[in-house]
Amino acid sequence: MGTIGIFDSGYGGLTILDGIRKRMPEYDYIYLGDNARAPYGTRSFDVVYEFTLQAVQKLFSLGCPLVILGCNTASAKALRSIQQNYLPRYAPDRRVLGVIRPTAEVVGELSHTRHIGVLATEGTIKSQSYTLEIEKLHPGATVVGQACPMWVPLVENNEFDKPGADYFVKDSLQKLLAQDPLIDTIILGCTHYPLLLDKINQQLAQLSAANSQLSSIKVIPQGQYIAASLEDYLHRHPEMAERLTRGGTCQYFTTESSSKFRESASLFLHDDVVAQRITLI
Ligand code: DGL
Repeated sequence: MGTIGIFDSGYGGLTILDGIRKRMPEYDYIYLGDNARAPYGTRSFDVVYEFTLQAVQKLFSLGCPLVILGCNTASAKALRSIQQNYLPRYAPDRRVLGVIRPTAEVVGELSHTRHIGVLATEGTIKSQSYTLEIEKLHPGATVVGQACPMWVPLVENNEFDKPGADYFVKDSLQKLLAQDPLIDTIILGCTHYPLLLDKINQQLAQLSAANSQLSSIKVIPQGQYIAASLEDYLHRHPEMAERLTRGGTCQYFTTESSSKFRESASLFLHDDVVAQRITLI
C-alpha cells in the first residue's frame, strides 16, 4: 500500500496539490519541494533530469507507487526520459505522470478561435512541449509561447500582489499577444502563476480595453484539470488505485529549512504547513 507523491521544484506544485486534494481528499499524499535548488526554470535539460530523478527516487523510497511531477519544467525536461528509460529498467511497477499533457488535452475544448497562448518558464517554452502536445492533440490549433522570467521570483519573494509586479505581468502579456492577437485562451504553464491570476486578469482587461482587436481571453490555471485527469487515470487503472491508502493525510518534505517552507507554503495553501527537511543526494 502506498501514497501519491507530488513533486515540484519549489512551492508552485502546492497549487497542483491543492486542486488534487479538493477533488480527491480521501487519498494520502506526500508533497516534496526541492526548494533548496529551485528555480529549475533556467536550468539545463541534464540538470533538471538529474534533480527530478533524485526526487522521484526519494518519493519511491518514501512509499509512493505513483508520482505526479507537479512542475511544468520537470514535466517538460525529465518526464519522458523517466517514463521511457528509468521506469522500465528500475521501477517497472511504479508510475510517474506529468502536468503538460492533461493541460494540453483540455485546452482544445476551451478555445474557440483555436489560437492558444502559453505562459511558462524559459525552460518549458524552449522545450516546445506545449506546442508539440497541443498541435498533436488538436490539429489546426495555433500555439505561441512566452517565457516570463520574472514571475517565479515575484511569487517566491512574496511580491506577487505588490504594485511592482504589474509592470512584469503587463510586459509578458503584451509580448505574448503581440505574437498572436487572436489568442482567446492562455495556459498558465507554470505552477507558480496562479498566484498572479488577479494581476493577469486586471492587465488583460486593460490591454483589451486599449485594443479592440483582442478577443475576450480566458486564463487557465492547471490545478483543477490535473486533478480531473488524475481521477480519470485512477478509474482507468484500478490496479494502481487499489495500491493507494485512503487516510486523507498529507505529509510535506522540503530540501530547504522547514521554517522557510512553512512561511512560504502558507501563501499557496492559506494553511499552516509543517514540513520535514530532507536531502536528495
Ligand atoms: N514549478 C515550476 C514550473 O511549473 C516553476 C518554478 C521553477 O522554475 O522551478 O515550471
